[in-house]
Amino acid sequence: SNRPRVFSGMQPTNASLHLGNYLGALRQWAAMQDDHDAFYCVVDLHAITAGHDPAELRERSRVTAAQYIAGGVDPERSTLFVQSHRPEHAQLAWVLSCITGFGEASRMTQFKDKSARHGADATTVGLFTYPVLQAADILLYNADFVPVGEDQRQHVELTRDVGGRFNSRFGETFVLPKPFIPEATAKIYDLQDPTAKMSKSVAGAGLIELLDDPKVIEKRIKSAVTDTGRDVLADRENKPGVTNLLTILSALTGRPIAQIEQDFSGRGYGDLKKEVIAAVLDVVLPFQQRVRELLDDPAELDALLARGAEKAQATAEPMLRRAYERVGF
Ligand code: ADP
Ligand code: NA
Repeated sequence: SNRPRVFSGMQPTNASLHLGNYLGALRQWAAMQDDHDAFYCVVDLHAITAGHDPAELRERSRVTAAQYIAGGVDPERSTLFVQSHRPEHAQLAWVLSCITGFGEASRMTQFKDKSARHGADATTVGLFTYPVLQAADILLYNADFVPVGEDQRQHVELTRDVGGRFNSRFGETFVLPKPFIPEATAKIYDLQDPTAKMSKSVAGAGLIELLDDPKVIEKRIKSAVTDTGRDVLADRENKPGVTNLLTILSALTGRPIAQIEQDFSGRGYGDLKKEVIAAVLDVVLPFQQRVRELLDDPAELDALLARGAEKAQATAEPMLRRAYERVGF
């Protein structure tokens, strides 16, 4: 196919994806699959960098795949698979780690943040080399675009640098990918701390998990931190809480923020929250229903993922072979 390629993935670290994952990434994946040759991966190799439970990991990979499908990824039109089902990811990562500078990897802000949180003794070498494995994931499929949130921009840049270095050292092999970051939803913020990114690593009342009890979701939106004043206006600097809610509402309904502001003139934050709750539940309820259906038949889901891994193999295997030949193996 001569459609542009996309590759993206999310970790099965926690059972549930959150609203930032959905608006920043998953929804975009679904939108791109018609005019792109799309590869969407459950990146389970990435999920063991900070300790894990084996039985839980396997189950979480299934739940994550089910959420991709519930979020609109069609396993017939896209290649949907689990990273560890293809050995080429780790095989290419080793080679790339040998042409990535220690200093270069040390500058990754996600690593700096996470290792600072864990402390040196609890920080694994795997967490350090994680962006190199991510580069291998992307380069292996010759992806043109990587749809991700803003926080992943630096890793895609590293992928380009390392892929370009490979090409100039060993001969033209890899396509250099570009990040594809939908501006409006590049960063969804925590409901309790609307200056920080909504993230699974900051569990708490500021997180909207797609598989959470709808009552909990409703309560969390109701108690979202808002700002002083009473006007519903977007102002990232002075009204980060209200701005975040407006961003979410606009993204989910397709109504431009300016129009929402107009609709809310003379109304307050409480009304805004009510509409955000309705818009989130409109997505979440059918999403949860679809996930339940898929998880009700784990054998069928596993078979679907096995077919996805076979489809991935058709690209990954020859690419790895080519790269290894170039390196001299
Ligand atoms: P987390 O940051 O919660 O650990 P991941 O790193 O697994 O989430 O991210 C999976 C995908 O979701 C990536 O493409 C990432 O850029 C996107 N993403 C994560 N958090 C957000 C957010 N708050 N807003 C927008 N996109 C996000
Ligand atoms: Na992230």
